[in-house]
Amino acid sequence: MKVKKAVIPAAGLGTRVLPASKAVPKEMLPIVDKPAIQYIVEEAVASGIEDILIITNRGKSLIEDHFDHAPELEEKLLSSQKQDLYEQVVSLAHLCNIQYVRQKETRGLGHAVWCAKSFVGNEPFAVLYGDDVIISDKPAIGQLMGVYEEYGKSVVGIKSVATELLPSYCTLGVNPVRDNIYDVFDMIEKPLPSEIISNFAILGRCVLTPDIFPLLENTPPSRNGEIQLTDAMRAIAKQGNMMGIEYSGVRYDMGNKLGILQAIVEVGLSHPEVGEGFRNYLRGIAASL
Ligand code: UTP
Repeated sequence: MKVKKAVIPAAGLGTRVLPASKAVPKEMLPIVDKPAIQYIVEEAVASGIEDILIITNRGKSLIEDHFDHAPELEEKLLSSQKQDLYEQVVSLAHLCNIQYVRQKETRGLGHAVWCAKSFVGNEPFAVLYGDDVIISDKPAIGQLMGVYEEYGKSVVGIKSVATELLPSYCTLGVNPVRDNIYDVFDMIEKPLPSEIISNFAILGRCVLTPDIFPLLENTPPSRNGEIQLTDAMRAIAKQGNMMGIEYSGVRYDMGNKLGILQAIVEVGLSHPEVGEGFRNYLRGIAASL
């Protein structure tokens, strides 16, 4: 079965990027000239996703505005002969069929995904974390969708993470299958150093089946009071129904300040309009460091 639906959880409080995220959702923070969530929607569309559900909450209406028409702006751009910009702005309203649902209480990523239950129905679906931008020649979620279509099992996007960082991520038990594809048999969210199974962690993307919903309903909140998606996915891994792919692409964590800076520098360097000027500027700065 093909994966046609995607869920983008974007209802977190973004406390690690305050005060920037007080009134502006962190998913709307720009990387050069596009907000983070636009890169993510474009990745989903480039992978063949047809319907997207964005999980929002109070204060995230800027996200809806970004993917809607802006009649006054569009008229102004047209009348001042700014055809290119006009087309860019208009195309945002037609990127994909995007729907929204509010997560009424910030109860964690697992609860945010649970809010997609009626949108998902009985189909497999992709999850793209709203603050993880992945720049890749082959769209990252498309790489996971390929594995789902081949094996018919849930899939997590994985990368090797430095041991000292693992307690902020998760740790996976994996067996290699072929190339960059693994069988995932266990996972522990925010492990203690003594619990680390491997350096592989889930970073930003997964493809799930609707089996996740009853598991989420029975997942108790973790130490920090949030319902963790990983805790529910662990049961699927333990049943032997979870694959992992070490996807190609660079992931930027827009939920933390260093990640935002890295994204801006690296995407800025290859930007067609400002890349060259930015490179010269950085060379000058670097020489004085
Ligand atoms: P994070 O755990 O990185 O988001 O969730 P957060 O809670 O905003 O982070 P901090 O710790 O306060 O800085 C990953 C993704 O899941 C969404 C977030 O918006 C982010 O895109 N999320 C998280 C929800 O949609 N709902 C939640 O209850 C929690």
